Amino acid sequence: MSQAGGTPAAETAARLRAEIEQHNVRYYVYDDPSISDADYDRLMRELQDLEAAHPELVTPESPTQRVGAAPVSAFGSVRHAVPMLSLGNAFDEEDVTAFDRRVTDTLRGAGLLGPAQQTEYFCELKLDGLAISLRYEDGRLVQAATRGDGQTGEDVTSNIRTIKAIPLQLTGPAPRVLEVRGEVLMNRADFEKLNAAQAKRDEKVFVNPRNAAAGSLRQLDPRITAKRPLRFFAYGWGEVQGLPGGQSGLFDEAPAGAAEASPLPEKSHGAMLDWLASLGLPVNVKHNLRATGAEGLMAFYAKVGALRASLPYDIDGVVYKVDSLPAQKLLGFVARAPRFALAHKFPAEEATTTLLDIEVQVGRTGAITPVARLKPVFVGGVTVTNATLHNEDEIRRKDVRIGDTVIVRRAGDVIPEVVSAVLEKRPADAREFVMPKECPVCGSAIERLEDETIARCTGGLFCAAQRKQTLWHAASRKALDIEGLGEKLVEQLVDSGRVKSLADLFSLRPLELVGLDRMGQKSADNLVEAIDKARAPALGRVLFALGIRHVGETTARDVARHFGSIEAIMDADEDALSSVPDVGPVVAGSIRRFFAEQHNRDVIDQLKAQGVQPVAEAVPQDTTLAGKTFVLTGTLPNWTREEASMRIQAAGGKVSGSVSKKTAYLVAGEDAGSKLTKAQELGVTVLDEDALKALLGES
Ligand code: IVH
Repeated sequence: MSQAGGTPAAETAARLRAEIEQHNVRYYVYDDPSISDADYDRLMRELQDLEAAHPELVTPESPTQRVGAAPVSAFGSVRHAVPMLSLGNAFDEEDVTAFDRRVTDTLRGAGLLGPAQQTEYFCELKLDGLAISLRYEDGRLVQAATRGDGQTGEDVTSNIRTIKAIPLQLTGPAPRVLEVRGEVLMNRADFEKLNAAQAKRDEKVFVNPRNAAAGSLRQLDPRITAKRPLRFFAYGWGEVQGLPGGQSGLFDEAPAGAAEASPLPEKSHGAMLDWLASLGLPVNVKHNLRATGAEGLMAFYAKVGALRASLPYDIDGVVYKVDSLPAQKLLGFVARAPRFALAHKFPAEEATTTLLDIEVQVGRTGAITPVARLKPVFVGGVTVTNATLHNEDEIRRKDVRIGDTVIVRRAGDVIPEVVSAVLEKRPADAREFVMPKECPVCGSAIERLEDETIARCTGGLFCAAQRKQTLWHAASRKALDIEGLGEKLVEQLVDSGRVKSLADLFSLRPLELVGLDRMGQKSADNLVEAIDKARAPALGRVLFALGIRHVGETTARDVARHFGSIEAIMDADEDALSSVPDVGPVVAGSIRRFFAEQHNRDVIDQLKAQGVQPVAEAVPQDTTLAGKTFVLTGTLPNWTREEASMRIQAAGGKVSGSVSKKTAYLVAGEDAGSKLTKAQELGVTVLDEDALKALLGES
């Protein structure tokens, strides 16, 4: 920036702005922040204070100016210097190979590719937000517009200026005119938070992050937009004029889509995006990739498909662009879309269908989950007939009624859920859901405690549904680890009345198993053998297997180590239980209440009668890491996370899933994400694999 000269205050302001902008670039462009949020806020406050004392120093580009200008009554319109186009769509491999063939044939015909050469593409994510054009003049953001009909959009400059990811001032030498095209979007986590806050204030909740982003950007009051967590990624450009320092460009022809005679500094799409990033504009460097031929495109599609659910934002496909700009120019346009680019769509994650009924399901702890029975609908790549409605309050909040047309979402392998009802289509006879008073499985009362959202069946192990899930949980890998005892088998054993409690499992004989569904002699023998092996489980596994509320695998092991025997645990009062590190009143109370019930104590006696004898947990010998909590994130070069966890635990350390003040070390590998950021914010020591090995004495 140029206002640096002059008074000391002016210099300080310039220095603070440069510093803040540099942190913005690290955060939004490279996803690699180097300071904590608190330190960033401190810099901002310093600048705000300084500007308050010296109002003459405030510039429109100052990062303090993102709070939002005064509201307007309507948006002005902006005619795009270069039209904003759309993309042709592909839905399957055939569409992609046909596209590649057309492109490659044309380029070979024109001599831009040799007869055996394949086309190079630049592959990007198809971000599910809204397209925006940003106009920079002499490096300053002067206008921002929505796509509109492609020729004319709405002037959303004041709103766009509140988005921190969008630089108000480009870094480094900038061209006279640069129009940047990209997508404004909202991360899913931010969207959830926003909706929760909106609901709390009884304000409009949004259907999905894209609607939330669009709604936030189309606010007439920029001060509201300023409070919405919007993001931006650049994926293209419009008009480019007057490169800095007389840079004539390696490529002087007008590229496709750009105004005639706009020299570009680079010859390929990828290099152009690198150039945009070098100016401080967020480009999706993490996921953009070059690929060759249709095969390369399909590989990118598959890779991104596998990644989709773990991305922080929604995408609806990928975009392939011919990388070479001269090749783009040659290919040109058809109707409203370029011939050099293609959007390859993913199966939609949301679909509309009819809600036929709402039934309830009983979980292991008696939790009652309302489940939507749906008219079969194809969504997220599969046919869905059921979807969760979470709980009664959710149904009320979403105002979903039986008979409604509903939007169903299935993202990745996540359980499908009903997102919302389409109110305009509500039939006159739509019925509200009423939580049953009795458990549909065992007939016991359903009860919902005052400050809980979850209703529960009070039948306990009297309820066959709870019994089945309790057994299934007890047999699971982290509990008694009984191989071959799956859901279907448990169902048959409980339904036939043969297995009423955990202990009954241990009296099963091969003969009575043979003849059950999908059970031959061999598998019956194997199962009985697996059950037999579970007669001497580690005490922690037994405690976990009991399915006590709030007692996870790690807590169970800690408690087991502390007390050493099941009898000691059964007789411990809340104070004794609370003396175990990491065990608070909730867990202690839950364990105490569990063993206060005679029928739960009976289970232990019955297990003993069946020859089940828990063995004391091995107390770690090496105590160098004793009591230290580790969190693992990212991919380590040699060890899997599981391996690293085991070694840490073997050395007496604890492994937790989330970073907090209590975390001693964060072990970070490649592609570490938010946990790393959080650890840095909290000042937690970060280790790589080598440092961890050293700590374990293994290097
Ligand atoms: S390029 C001339 N790249 O998809 C082509 N578009 O269907 C201009 N979109 O309106 C678009 N991610 O809102 C391009 N990496 C990406 C994109 C992308 C999302 C959206 C954009 C556009 C629509 C086209």
